Amino acid sequence: MLLDTTALNQQRNFFDGHTDIWLFGYGSLIWKADFEYLERRPAYITGWARRFWQGSHDHRGTLEAPGRVATLIRDQGALCHGMAYRITPDVLAPLDVREKNGYLREKVPLTFQGEREKRPEGRTQTEGLIYLATADNPAFLGDAPLKDIAYQIAHAHGPSGSNKAYLLNLAQALRELETEDAHVFAIEEQLYRYQ
Ligand code: SIN
Repeated sequence: MLLDTTALNQQRNFFDGHTDIWLFGYGSLIWKADFEYLERRPAYITGWARRFWQGSHDHRGTLEAPGRVATLIRDQGALCHGMAYRITPDVLAPLDVREKNGYLREKVPLTFQGEREKRPEGRTQTEGLIYLATADNPAFLGDAPLKDIAYQIAHAHGPSGSNKAYLLNLAQALRELETEDAHVFAIEEQLYRYQ
């Protein structure tokens, strides 16, 4: 049985009483912002590395043939770039449903990129919210040789589309953010073998 985290997340009210919340997206939330937001800014979080270690049975794969999607792994010294969105709290309910396959709301410090240059008076850091799939959730797949990760991604499809499109869209979005991610770009390179 897979874990549906929707109800659990509704108890995780780290920003109770706030009129707006900064959501940090590091996976599909970077390139598929199908929710209302007040503003968005490139940002990063430290101590976390993006990895395609989370199984997707509901979006980019099926129960029989799960895909692989992004989660974050603790890695001291690592920096993970993404997109921060300022949202109103009502946006969280549909996001909980979208991220229900093992992701839990977590609170993290985030840093806005280029903020100092653009808005010298503005804050560069704030507390943000991420959806995190940790190793103890039943959909977690963990590490594997890159060629196996790429093979799985190349062949998985689910209700939201192909797993390959997820990875290629993310790689493209990271380029647009002018950031490097060796893990994502290495999988992207392997994927060209399956075209
Ligand atoms: C995220 O994008 O921040 C979470 C993982 C995903 O939905 O791809």
